[in-house]
Amino acid sequence: MEKNIGVDLGYGFVKITDGKKDKLFPSVVGQARTLRYVTDESPEQNLINNLHVAVEGREYFVGDLANRQSDVVLFSLNESRMDERISKILFATALALLAEGQSTNYNIVTGLPVGFYTETKQTLTQLYKGRQDVIMKRKQTPDQEYSLMVNEVKVLPEPFGSLFDLILDYSGNIVDENLAASKVGIIDVGFRTTDYIVVDNLENIDRLSGSSNTALSTAYVIISELLKEEFKITKPIYQLDQTIRSSEIRISGKTYNLDEIKKHAFGMVAEKLITEINSLWINKWELDMVFITGGGGMALAEYLMPHFENSLLAKEAQFANVYGFRKLAQRLFGNHNRTSSSLDSVVGGNE
Ligand SMILES: Nc1ncnc2c1ncn2[C@@H]1O[C@H](COP(=O)(O)OP(=O)(O)OP(=O)(O)O)[C@@H](O)[C@H]1O
Ligand SMILES: [Mg+2]
Repeated sequence: MEKNIGVDLGYGFVKITDGKKDKLFPSVVGQARTLRYVTDESPEQNLINNLHVAVEGREYFVGDLANRQSDVVLFSLNESRMDERISKILFATALALLAEGQSTNYNIVTGLPVGFYTETKQTLTQLYKGRQDVIMKRKQTPDQEYSLMVNEVKVLPEPFGSLFDLILDYSGNIVDENLAASKVGIIDVGFRTTDYIVVDNLENIDRLSGSSNTALSTAYVIISELLKEEFKITKPIYQLDQTIRSSEIRISGKTYNLDEIKKHAFGMVAEKLITEINSLWINKWELDMVFITGGGGMALAEYLMPHFENSLLAKEAQFANVYGFRKLAQRLFGNHNRTSSSLDSVVGGNE
């Protein structure tokens, strides 16, 4: 079985799709431990919320399970995202979630933040390529052993994914020639990085593109400080997601609304981003469109969009990059007879 898939190992969340199934889990890896009591949930929920894996002979909790149960959260992704051990564990876990049968072959399109793209591209390709063995440890059913093979890897600057999602159809054919020929700005607000790029006729305009460390987690840090001040509680930011998304926190059995705190923090972060982007995009009027994307893009859209004319929030923005990666994977690695276009010379072939 061979699959063309899109993979996005974000600082906050791993997103992966094969065009049929989408999977999402927090980019957190923790030490595995023996659990005395496990509740029953639906099999699908059960799996994604209870990722217990063995990679290279060692056991880990991954995603929500690590957040809930690990005494020691071993690591989350570092600055350049190139902590090879954690990347490998997250990657192998993600592949196993899309496996069909014990051995599945993959061709992959993935992304890197603009700021690390050139220097990290090759390392990432090497890390992903080849055999990935992983065991999924299950409570109620026998362990599942996977021997997975990654044949092809293509790495793009991350926000390109959201653009390809709009330009290509599911088989990788160009459906929006107009957009492919336009000059567009893309702002991808993630958990720890915001990437912004300008693409003209599918060419990345490097001097107008950049990465910022101001992203949604910047707002989480502000919120966590306010929570500490007001309620005397401390929670690491990677465990604050549900609280902030639901806009309420329960403390000693009492629920507090966080709308105001959230508005304040999101507003500040959006303002900081606007200042950074404006200093680079001096001639904003030259852009035909500005796309806001990424999970953080959904959170900040209402604050960002008024600052750009012709701005649009990507559909399913947290998945937009990975959907685009998967469409490009179909184009690059699918068995289609297709007339080539300028797009192919821009993205190149395999590496
Ligand atoms: N519909 C939504 N509304 C508000 N916030 C959302 C929504 N969907 C996702 N988010 C938030 O977006 C954040 C993660 O975004 P995303 O998955 O794009 O980050 P990432 O890719 O992991 O980070 P990075 O790009 O920095 O590596 C999470 O904190 C999540 O709560
Ligand atoms: Mg991202």
